[in-house]
Amino acid sequence: MIPIGTPLTDEQEIAAVSEVLRSGMLAQGPGVEMFEKEFSSYCGTRHGIAMNNGTAALHATLLALGIGPGDEVILPAFTFFATASSVCMCGAKPVFVDVDRETFNLSIDALQNALSAGTRAVIGVHLFGQPFEVNTVKEICGERGIHLVEDAAQAHGATCHGRKVGSFGTAGCFSFYPTKNMTTGEGGFVTTDDDQVSQKIRQIINHGQSEKYLHTMLGFNYRMTDIGASIGLAQLRKLDSFNARRRETAQYYNSNLRYPGLIPPRTVPGSVHVYHQYVVRVTEECRLNRDQVAMKLKDKGIGTAVHYPIPLHRQPVFSKYARQTHCPVSEALAKEVLSLPVHPRVTDADREYICSCINEVT
Ligand SMILES: Cc1ncc(COP(=O)(O)O)c(C=O)c1O
Repeated sequence: MIPIGTPLTDEQEIAAVSEVLRSGMLAQGPGVEMFEKEFSSYCGTRHGIAMNNGTAALHATLLALGIGPGDEVILPAFTFFATASSVCMCGAKPVFVDVDRETFNLSIDALQNALSAGTRAVIGVHLFGQPFEVNTVKEICGERGIHLVEDAAQAHGATCHGRKVGSFGTAGCFSFYPTKNMTTGEGGFVTTDDDQVSQKIRQIINHGQSEKYLHTMLGFNYRMTDIGASIGLAQLRKLDSFNARRRETAQYYNSNLRYPGLIPPRTVPGSVHVYHQYVVRVTEECRLNRDQVAMKLKDKGIGTAVHYPIPLHRQPVFSKYARQTHCPVSEALAKEVLSLPVHPRVTDADREYICSCINEVT
């Protein structure tokens, strides 16, 4: 089976983890600090805080920005659950807006229509590895004095006009889950240029301590381990080559997929898409529907996935926030999208095989 997602680690990660185990410093040690310096410098921000997962990164960021009950946070309806659950975990209200059918990213019109006196922040998601219209969204936020938080969980190394994602908003939040463009096992990260936000996040992820055993606020244990950081340091050195290979495979699919009605993802000029996922739309013009195509490919040993089958405003747990919400594009996409394997373990032979199977699906 060609899997839809899998990490690419080798002897370098094994050696790095072994070294940490031999050192006895398993939790927060020199590795976490080094990883924080290297990943934030890679993204082009002054501060970087490593933590235990991407959801924690979003949650700690929103708390540090003072988001709480009575506040509204605008975010796309078509994204992973954690983008919205982190808002609810602060006691604030997620406001779901629709996305663009071609890029799958936040629709600027929908965002403008959703702004209200209660809006305190916008979470833009660089979905599937493609930057959203970050300069425009930043401008809209700037005019109103509200925060932009970038959910860059799927977009390590993606750029917009030459600048890395995670460096545009008040903060950028990353995930290092094993199938992401780079991994630390489980892990998360916040990039920011804001001294106070950085300091606050450090406190929040470490039991609210302002100094050892002095707790001046309620916090969490959201810390990253040195084991994770050592994997992250090894992965960061390979990230650009991983992304280059993802982009090359995506290009191969763009040129070689010829199934009538199947629409490849659209890229936006000026930005570098890092293809966390390569997502096609299986439209009504296709002979088979999305689920039938997925089933045929499964029979041929090709793993696919649906990111995401239910838009967030339709999730039962968010129903109380979404009674009046209409996001027709997100709903249509949930029925059409299909992710094909694009991770760096996909070989030349794999992608040839995948294209020939799709082109022959009847
Ligand atoms: C867009 C997005 N946001 C947030 C997260 C949460 O990250 P984690 O799974 O590391 O908690 C993910 C992870 O899949 C994601 O894809």
